[in-house]
Amino acid sequence: MDYEELKRKIKETVDIVEIASKYTNLKRAGKYYRGLCPFHHEKTPSFYVDPEKKLYHCFGCGAGGDAIKLVMEMEGVSFMEALSTLARNYGIPFKITRKSSKEEDILYKIMEETAKIYKEELWKKGRGYNYIKKRGIKEEIAKELCLGYAPKSWDFILKNLSTKFSNQQLEKGGLIIKKEGGGYYDRFRDRLIFPIFAEFGRITGFGGRAIENAQEAKYINSPETPIYKKGKALYGLNWSKKEIRKTGKAIIVEGYMDFLSLYSSGVKNVVASLGTSLTENQAALISRFASEVYLSYDNDDAGKRSTARAIPILLSKGLSTRVVELENAKDPDEFVEKFGQMSYIYKMEGAEKGVIFLFNYFGRENKEAGIKRAIDAISYITDPIKKRYDVAELSYISRIEEKILMSMSEEGEKSSSFKRRGALTPLEGGVIRIISCCSSDFLNSLEGEIYRELKDSKFSYIISLAEAKARGEDIPENVVDESIRPEVLRIFFEDKPPNSSAEEVVKELFNTIIKGKIGKIQMEIKAAEREGNTEKIIELMRKKQNLINRIRGKNGQA
Ligand code: UTP
Ligand code: MN
Repeated sequence: MDYEELKRKIKETVDIVEIASKYTNLKRAGKYYRGLCPFHHEKTPSFYVDPEKKLYHCFGCGAGGDAIKLVMEMEGVSFMEALSTLARNYGIPFKITRKSSKEEDILYKIMEETAKIYKEELWKKGRGYNYIKKRGIKEEIAKELCLGYAPKSWDFILKNLSTKFSNQQLEKGGLIIKKEGGGYYDRFRDRLIFPIFAEFGRITGFGGRAIENAQEAKYINSPETPIYKKGKALYGLNWSKKEIRKTGKAIIVEGYMDFLSLYSSGVKNVVASLGTSLTENQAALISRFASEVYLSYDNDDAGKRSTARAIPILLSKGLSTRVVELENAKDPDEFVEKFGQMSYIYKMEGAEKGVIFLFNYFGRENKEAGIKRAIDAISYITDPIKKRYDVAELSYISRIEEKILMSMSEEGEKSSSFKRRGALTPLEGGVIRIISCCSSDFLNSLEGEIYRELKDSKFSYIISLAEAKARGEDIPENVVDESIRPEVLRIFFEDKPPNSSAEEVVKELFNTIIKGKIGKIQMEIKAAEREGNTEKIIELMRKKQNLINRIRGKNGQA
């Protein structure tokens, strides 16, 4: 059985009322069940469950989805974990077609044994121990993080583990490397070892810090193995997740040492993304524990660039972002060592929003570039209120009117294969309501020019949505992003009659698209004015006038 099949089967079988009843008291209300929302604090019930459509929705906080989503959210588990929990509870036999996990079990065993013998080496108080002393790493933190030492030897692992595991297995685990002329040698030599734990506390790989500067790389890490995937894990999450969940805030740093310093100084809501820039997987992982992320990368150009790349990724997962900028220290580790953890906390309190960081960083020499990057990031924000706040702040700092910024962000990131994300605007909500009741009316009112504009805009997903609805299909996954799916479902769920006609909303959609274009041209005109490029100004003005005429034409005011 594959995931899709299992998912379908579960959706068919499960009783969403029964599942939701585990989290709140439900009472029948017409064709729905109603209760206090388990997602937010409320006194009057606004949480509804539809047993027929097998969906839940809260009209208070906007939470909504199907049974799998409900379990994911309530239990704080991954999609796969929710699937298997539900399958188990409803007696749905499932064996996901995956290689026997026996291989994985052996690898986990290898990791555990390796960590154990590296740890023993550290506490023999030789080179590894001297190194942690030199770096001021406290013994208790070294113990808590299970640090170890890989001795200066080509065959330490080979000698110590080959009675228990085959060379092929050790190689698969990334601990030994095949020599060209035959035979193997140890990957980690003369290094301080950081075991990397998965969220639930099993070791999946290692990082090794060179003891001597002359060593070829400062850090080396486990290669990809069946149990270690780069860009999936966050170092330290197994220790920090409790504090992250409690505070709702997570600090993301680059390196092992940054994690270690902050964590041991008492700033415990921290994880490390390990050098590589933050991935979508990592952002999704942290979003299960935090609502706000403090990016605290190195104080150099590489660090700033990684920060800039991480911001839209985090925003697209519904997270708020802040950027901790440090002076007079190259990274959080050095900062805490020099100025203490209180100073770091002050820096966190003064940390500016990700969007403002982008404006300042990319706008150093060229304000337009800064605005462009900030707006680009804003168009990933899923919550309309958060979006407004960020636009307002950006407007204040950049001195560009909010209206212009808003229309730019609405026109932002369009492409033919556009997958809608972010929050629905009221207009989109109105359109989707029309689609929910009368999708063919909607499709019929899209005449040539409007159809083309729509298809070419960020609203193109609406057409696919209407077409799917007209065919009686589910909401296609590739059209509507996870971030707006609950809203769309809610509207389909409510089944309320629309308060405007298909023609009216279509006209309004058209106006919005054209106004977005006008806003963009307005920006270009301002830039051309600054440059004193008269020819360009005139050309842009003409373009703008054409667009205005098109709106007037459509609205019957020639
Ligand atoms: P840094 O070079 O900033 O190291 O790399 P650091 O954290 O300041 O470490 P110390 O204080 O010099 O010991 C940050 C992270 O990038 C990855 C590691 O995960 C490291 O923690 N990295 C760095 C590598 O994987 N390989 C390298 O050669 C260097
Ligand atoms: Mn560093």
